[in-house]
Amino acid sequence: MRPRKITENVFWMGFIDWDRRIFDSLVPIPNGTSYNAYLIKGSEKTVLIDSVDPEHYEALESQLEYVDKLDYVVSLHAEQDHSGSIPFVLEKYPDAMLVTSKKEKPMLMDLLHIPEDKFIIVEDHETLSLGDKTLEFILTPWVHWPETMVAYLKEDKILFSCDFFGSHMASTELFVTNETEVYEAAKLYYAEIMMPYHPIIKKNLDKISEYDIDIIAPSHGQLYSNPEFIIELHKEWIVGPVKNKVVIPYVSMHSSTRKMVEHLAGALIDRGIQVELFNLEVADTGKIAISLVDAATVVLGTPSVLAGPHPAVVYAAYITNALRPKTKFLSIVGSYGWGCKTLDILKGLTHNLKAELVDPVFIKGAPKDEDFKLLDKLADEIMEKHKSIDIL
Ligand code: FEO
Repeated sequence: MRPRKITENVFWMGFIDWDRRIFDSLVPIPNGTSYNAYLIKGSEKTVLIDSVDPEHYEALESQLEYVDKLDYVVSLHAEQDHSGSIPFVLEKYPDAMLVTSKKEKPMLMDLLHIPEDKFIIVEDHETLSLGDKTLEFILTPWVHWPETMVAYLKEDKILFSCDFFGSHMASTELFVTNETEVYEAAKLYYAEIMMPYHPIIKKNLDKISEYDIDIIAPSHGQLYSNPEFIIELHKEWIVGPVKNKVVIPYVSMHSSTRKMVEHLAGALIDRGIQVELFNLEVADTGKIAISLVDAATVVLGTPSVLAGPHPAVVYAAYITNALRPKTKFLSIVGSYGWGCKTLDILKGLTHNLKAELVDPVFIKGAPKDEDFKLLDKLADEIMEKHKSIDIL
């Protein structure tokens, strides 16, 4: 595929990865992804922003056949899906200098063995003149690693946002044309990649709101010619109120926990609360992550196994804790056969959540009438808790 024009002398380059289904051996990406690099030809200097995953350098190399001279390569983020082909690019253009932040330089030296004399370091808000075009660099830590920055092309009003505002989506449409279709992919991307850092990302959102942006050009997925769409979604996900919703990831071995979870779900629905159940035997981790973005409450459902929670629930608790959603309340339900440390283990695994623990219902054996009454009481308490906060 040839370079694709975005505005005058600004081009998309990169690779659309239709086949990839998992990122970092961790994150499900059901819609594939793309690695977007950008070429800017100024009247005096030419710059390439980022590169592609090194597995797909051939695609970028064929596009570089249209580029006689390259003065700078800008690296916005050290993760190898963007930086991994930079050594090949520098080899192809030995006079090109590598422009990056002070924090990123040692990372690129460690990860890619780029020699120190290739670097130009830029500070926050520093500009790089390309002649008739000007790039401004804006440090935006933790979108997605501590060194990340974005670049703003002043004359064209394009924000090159790297991972920020991205979505894992393979599409031949350069710009978003179907916002409904992008919504779920962008929310999944936010949940899996940005949500753990959402308090810091809020500061970066504030920082970029000072800029007049016509186009957001991320390094994954499609570009936004309506930047407000994705900026407003990020505001909602980061600082908006949680929803009147309970997410219940659970596993059951001999139906006791399942009966409890189903009873609790029914009781919550009767009280006007939205419920999303995830049986961890079959649930998609990405769908759980999306649900966590705006759930007021998480209830973990588990039987006891070898004196602790079921390993699938341990994983769900660990991931929930690592993703740091805005969840306000947490509870645990389940059943045990004899002594266990299930509650203590799950409480320990969820220590990052700023969530208030609502009394768990953890019972011995199969649930009896009195246990179902305890679950009704838990549903009452969750309803009251939801009424006590700002909720959507
Ligand atoms: Fe797309 Fe953090 O790399």
